[in-house]
Amino acid sequence: MRAHALIFLGAPGAGKGTQAREVATHFGIPQISTGDILRDAVKRETKLGLAAKAKMEAGELVPDEVVCGIVEERVSEPDCRKGFILDGFPRTIAQAKFVDQMLAAKGRGKPLVLDIDVGEDLLLKRLMGRQTCSVCGEIYNTYFNPPKVEGICDKDGGKLLHRADDNEATIRQRLEAYHQQTQPLIEYYRGQGALLAVDGNKEPHEIAKGLLDYLSRA
Ligand code: AP5
Ligand code: MG
Repeated sequence: MRAHALIFLGAPGAGKGTQAREVATHFGIPQISTGDILRDAVKRETKLGLAAKAKMEAGELVPDEVVCGIVEERVSEPDCRKGFILDGFPRTIAQAKFVDQMLAAKGRGKPLVLDIDVGEDLLLKRLMGRQTCSVCGEIYNTYFNPPKVEGICDKDGGKLLHRADDNEATIRQRLEAYHQQTQPLIEYYRGQGALLAVDGNKEPHEIAKGLLDYLSRA
């Protein structure tokens, strides 16, 4: 894989986290999820967490300068030297321009963008049914990919948690924010000629196989 930065784009529930985990493990590069970093800060009640909490609970985007600061700091860590995956970032044109500048400053080329597309009717069910392991972050779904024992992670026995923003009212607001602020990035990256459209309606392992095949040759 030639690109230094991979970007996972897609609506809430499209499967960004699910697929980014597979790709990160396969290529041995870190998966940087701004959502995960922000949720961790909210849990630990840090200054960042306190600033982001209300926006996240409302299903709105956290300000650009806050998330750009998080990413800038994270990608300067040594494990990002071989490359990295951005999951859920950028989400606005301003964030996308920030990524371009950041990569240019590091002497890296353009990012490779994977846009996961899923029918809108499926997204709500995916999010309402999502459960995440509190220990390893493995992602399950009560409808599509249930754990062997209810509420318990198959991999490490960790407790599975339901995200606070996975309720119907907040999901609708998150989808609105996606349509208004994030969807325009598809055209932005199509213009740069580095966008791969990924059919996210298939089985997770089928999507992962297609992605890994593509990235191994890209
Ligand atoms: P974030 O955590 O990024 O949430 P999101 O974008 O709403 O996306 P999700 O994590 O909900 O979905 P996903 O695509 O990762 O799906 P997953 O793989 O889990 O952001 C949360 C909040 O933080 C934002 O609302 C905002 O406030 C803030 N924030 C974060 N980044 C920001 C930024 N850059 N700028 C500003 N604010 C920011 O899958 C979902 C479910 O579906 C799972 O249960 C999974 O098992 C299942 N599933 C996955 N794939 C399939 C499949 N192929 N078939 C069947 N089921 C599947
Ligand atoms: Mg996610």
